[in-house]
Amino acid sequence: MTLSEPTWLHVCDVNAIPRLGTRVLCHPSGDIALFRTETDNVFALRDKCPHKGGALSQGIVHGEKVTCPLHAWNIDLTTGEACAPDVGCAQRFPVRIDAGEVYLSLVETTSAEPAEATAAA
Ligand code: FES
Repeated sequence: MTLSEPTWLHVCDVNAIPRLGTRVLCHPSGDIALFRTETDNVFALRDKCPHKGGALSQGIVHGEKVTCPLHAWNIDLTTGEACAPDVGCAQRFPVRIDAGEVYLSLVETTSAEPAEATAAA
């Protein structure tokens, strides 16, 4: 293993995250929200809206976005960026799906790739 390789943490079965819903992973550095889209992509963001810290896990998932429950900012799940005209970014973490199991890397990223499904469940 090199320093650039992520360490994958097993989180749950993909079906433990409701479609168009979320699951929260409590972590000492702050909660991380895992979002499952209608097309079964999974994304992970810090559970803290870049506006005023609302819990994104309590928001509404639509397409590849989540709408914050506090002031309705839309956050792009692929990047963590607020959608225009709003400006801000939630921390994003890499997610991998392998044989229907969700793995998370705690390495923060700004890349825009969805969870990578490497094998069917
Ligand atoms: S705290 Fe999320 S939109 Fe204001």
